[in-house]
Amino acid sequence: MNIALYPGSFDPITVGHLDIIERAARLYDAVIVAVLHNPNKQGAFPVQTRLAFIERACAHLPNVRAERFEGLLVDYARQAGASVVLRGLRAVSDFEYEFQMAQMNRRLCPGVETLFMMTRPEHAYISSSGVREIATFGGDVSAFVPPCILNDVQAALDAGRRNAHGR
Ligand code: PNS
Repeated sequence: MNIALYPGSFDPITVGHLDIIERAARLYDAVIVAVLHNPNKQGAFPVQTRLAFIERACAHLPNVRAERFEGLLVDYARQAGASVVLRGLRAVSDFEYEFQMAQMNRRLCPGVETLFMMTRPEHAYISSSGVREIATFGGDVSAFVPPCILNDVQAALDAGRRNAHGR
């Protein structure tokens, strides 16, 4: 089994993420979308919700599953039997951080290879943080998140904004 791990925060999953997952699903026997659970960083959506969004968005991809991980990525890759860690590259600005992370992970675990997939140009400007900001201020994020999660993303961030304003 050729298993690829696609790790990230996915807070929430975007159409850019989904495109990478769909392309990876054609290349690997199995793709695990691994959501980092960081006890020190809450995130906008609980990890359980992020996993549910990914599962819904990937329901048409039988060889893709979503899992949560904690701790070091390379430990999780080894435990999951994944020989490849996949990351998307949107622009040169992503490169420095990704290069450093890939080199550190290689040093920690030479058996796990990091591979980069170029994001489609039409997705190159999309980020989860942008989605959160736009939706929090009531903007339309329908071009940025998979349609099946749109209402839930919008509703959750709207509710967060109302709570923050005590309404
Ligand atoms: O979507 P993100 O936030 O860019 O994903 C970053 C992620 C989760 C891939 C990265 O922070 C990670 O792998 N964290 C786990 C801890 C770890 O292994 N750190 C060492 C890599 S430098």
